[in-house]
Amino acid sequence: MTAFLLKKLFEPLSIGPITLSNRIVMPALGTNFAGSKGEVTPRLIHHYQARAAGGAGLIIVEGTAVHQTGRGFLYQLSIDRDELIPSLKQLVQAVQGQGAKIFIQLHHGGRNTNSRISGTQPWAPSAVPSPVGQETPKAMSLEEIQEIIRAFLEGARRAREAGFDGVELHGAHEYLLSQFLSPYSNFRKDAYGGSLENRLRLSREIIQGIRKEQGEKFLISFRISGDELVSKGMHLPESLKAARALTGYGADLINVSGGVYETPHLIIPPAPFPQGVHLPLAESMKKALSVPVIGVGRILHPEFAEAVLNSGQADLVAIGRGLIADPDWPQKARTGRFGDIRFCVGCNQGCIDFLMAERPITCLYNPGVGKDREFSFLPARQPGTMVVVGAGPAGLEAAVTLDEMGHRVYLFEKRDRLGGQVQTALIAPGKSEFQEIIRYYQRKLEKSGIQLFLNTKPTIETILDLTPDFVVIATGSVPIDPDLPGLQGEEVLSIETALTQPEKVGEKVVVLGGGNAGCEVADYLSLSGRKVTIMEMGNRMARDCGPARRYLLMRRLRENKVKNFIRCRIKSLSPGQVTYIREEKDGQRSMRHLNGLDTFVNALGVKSNDILAAPLKAIGIQVDIIGDALSPGKILDAVAEGARAAREIYGKMEAKNKANKNT
Ligand SMILES: Cc1cc2nc3c(=O)[nH]c(=O)nc-3n(C[C@H](O)[C@H](O)[C@H](O)COP(=O)(O)O)c2cc1C
Repeated sequence: MTAFLLKKLFEPLSIGPITLSNRIVMPALGTNFAGSKGEVTPRLIHHYQARAAGGAGLIIVEGTAVHQTGRGFLYQLSIDRDELIPSLKQLVQAVQGQGAKIFIQLHHGGRNTNSRISGTQPWAPSAVPSPVGQETPKAMSLEEIQEIIRAFLEGARRAREAGFDGVELHGAHEYLLSQFLSPYSNFRKDAYGGSLENRLRLSREIIQGIRKEQGEKFLISFRISGDELVSKGMHLPESLKAARALTGYGADLINVSGGVYETPHLIIPPAPFPQGVHLPLAESMKKALSVPVIGVGRILHPEFAEAVLNSGQADLVAIGRGLIADPDWPQKARTGRFGDIRFCVGCNQGCIDFLMAERPITCLYNPGVGKDREFSFLPARQPGTMVVVGAGPAGLEAAVTLDEMGHRVYLFEKRDRLGGQVQTALIAPGKSEFQEIIRYYQRKLEKSGIQLFLNTKPTIETILDLTPDFVVIATGSVPIDPDLPGLQGEEVLSIETALTQPEKVGEKVVVLGGGNAGCEVADYLSLSGRKVTIMEMGNRMARDCGPARRYLLMRRLRENKVKNFIRCRIKSLSPGQVTYIREEKDGQRSMRHLNGLDTFVNALGVKSNDILAAPLKAIGIQVDIIGDALSPGKILDAVAEGARAAREIYGKMEAKNKANKNT
């Protein structure tokens, strides 16, 4: 499909006084890029400016705190004080200067925050904690409700004064406005609880207040969970009634998402949820409403987005993680360069998992997120020669970046294909989209001047013959080899072997280690009917997996009858048997055996493989060890390492050239 066929996606849309240049919306996406007092930072400005320059028609700035009691994250953007207006203005100008329109999402976390962050007991419609366990909130008094209404109205005033084209009220995902809206969280008996009309009252007073104070020209979007997808929550028929009422009160746009805290996998659906998971909800809203509707939920490909608009499921498409992964998605789509897009693979690891861990967000294979300025560079003044050993995620990122900087790059890979640990990871259920990572780098390699040698383990001599300025060692890792009797036995397989050669795996399997990797291999093996047990030393399975993916993974393990043994210290393996010490909750320990086993999978961890580094260093070659070869980690860490190494080499080369010039 060529770009001109994306007619609808790049058709302007007028809403009230503004005209969007296209139908692509960047929805609110928290970043943790704000300062500790909620202020705008240069990093935050660059992040949004890059997405506007990349061609999104409307940017909705992340959920922004209107009141201290509702702060959801330590580094959440705030709009609760006039002193914040000047820097918000800079943000607005940076985005509007690129031709995009900009809204800001007004947010109050309600019961889904905690006193560690907000400094006070959470406020909510009722004194009932979220079923997934946060603090018990206090039921808001009528005075406190008035205080919050005022906070939203003041937030909207500040937004207008800063130059925003509009605001979005966060009425989805079980935050304060949706907590009032929904029978799932609102048990009040007064005018703000009970009937739908009463549950809508808080949102009504806010919308009407903004309209009255900020006038007709200031736009109001309302984000709603079209279905909360939990029993006793709001379902589509009631959400439709609510949305109709909200537009009657003055909302100019309805943004249709789904889910509550209990169902995080539906708020930010990871792979393998299909493209457009929430679009049926948007479609129903669009049929019932006379204002534009935004659809969201894993809208990944430009052709798909176009089809969504053409079929009338939505008027605008929100592309969230897709724009984190590739800020230039819209421009690349418009110019028909679909193959150049770095598509989101729905892993959730760098974005929402980092956000929830109070870390600045990033992306599995876009390490430039939040570093938009640092990652721009001029071509190297003097091209150097670089040898990269290993074409896994770390080596690939280093190689393509060094090539983009203008260096000559030789890339060696001992296997017959690119990708390293990505090739193994994508075999696990629900992770086939990781193929996209390899496709993306493959494409980059094709367009580069990199000389690639597959099936090649370079010797020291091969490397020296190339007279490299730098050698990047990205040779990955090998399974750890603890002093565990029996671990060298024939029936013990590595994760890689179990995934790539499942014919070697018997019927009854014990996976040694219940981290994410161990659970994923168990998931895979159980699909073919094998009886799988996971043994984990700690007291939680898949502890290194983010909440949404963990929820799905654990559900699949339960469905496939995988047995999970926690607090198990493995003592020895022998043919058909594992001996372990089980620690009970009360601290009592007992030695136990499991018999009749066919295969063990070693998921105890990996260690670095950097054997080339020492001999090269010894002969004075500048070496940079990256990825698992330096310190075993995830694909995300490996890619970040590759990017870091390339930039450091660039800096050293520039310094060297400058010094040479001066002498
Ligand atoms: C890192 C991250 C932060 C998010 N923060 C917000 C937020 O502040 N407000 C909101 O309404 N939704 C938030 N969301 C949800 C997104 O707006 C969007 O609905 C979701 O990612 C699904 O769209 P996608 O599949 O295009 O990513 C966030 C999602 C992510 C990944």
